[in-house]
Amino acid sequence: MLSRLVYASRATAPHQADLPVILQWCEDVNPSLGVTGLLCCLDGVYMQYLEGEDAVLDELFASIRKDSRHSGATILERRPIPQRAFPQWSMKLMEWDERSKAIFQSFSPGANLDLYATDASTAAPLMRALIREADWKL
Ligand SMILES: Cc1cc2nc3c(=O)[nH]c(=O)nc-3n(C[C@H](O)[C@H](O)[C@H](O)COP(=O)(O)O)c2cc1C
Repeated sequence: MLSRLVYASRATAPHQADLPVILQWCEDVNPSLGVTGLLCCLDGVYMQYLEGEDAVLDELFASIRKDSRHSGATILERRPIPQRAFPQWSMKLMEWDERSKAIFQSFSPGANLDLYATDASTAAPLMRALIREADWKL
């Protein structure tokens, strides 16, 4: 069954050096797994939206969770989906700017800009709003 899994984690070191490595993994591996999605990184917190077949997501998330480049990986949402939100993207990286921060704040009014504290019920809609509205960089 096709599902999505959204988690948040904290980078263990300044993430600028890790991001190209992580994206390279995604580019090399995710297409062959049929995994698509989005990776956001803000102030040392990752939020990743993964979509793919259940068994594949289990295996991939087990490997991601063990990665020493981050810690505290916590699943915010996992559920079956009828279709993908990100069919074209093996993994896209979002860099935050004023516009995307405003989108974040529209989902969590008054909250600190802390992705790790994002409410589980808003994590997936937030990421889908970001894809529609924010400026994207590879
Ligand atoms: C935040 C984060 C997101 C990652 N996302 C993916 C991903 O979507 N696909 C992937 O193949 N590896 C991803 N990785 C890398 C994996 O955690 C892992 O390093 C890689 O799959 C190699 O695992 P292995 O050494 O167990 O084979 C990610 C790592 C981090 C820190």
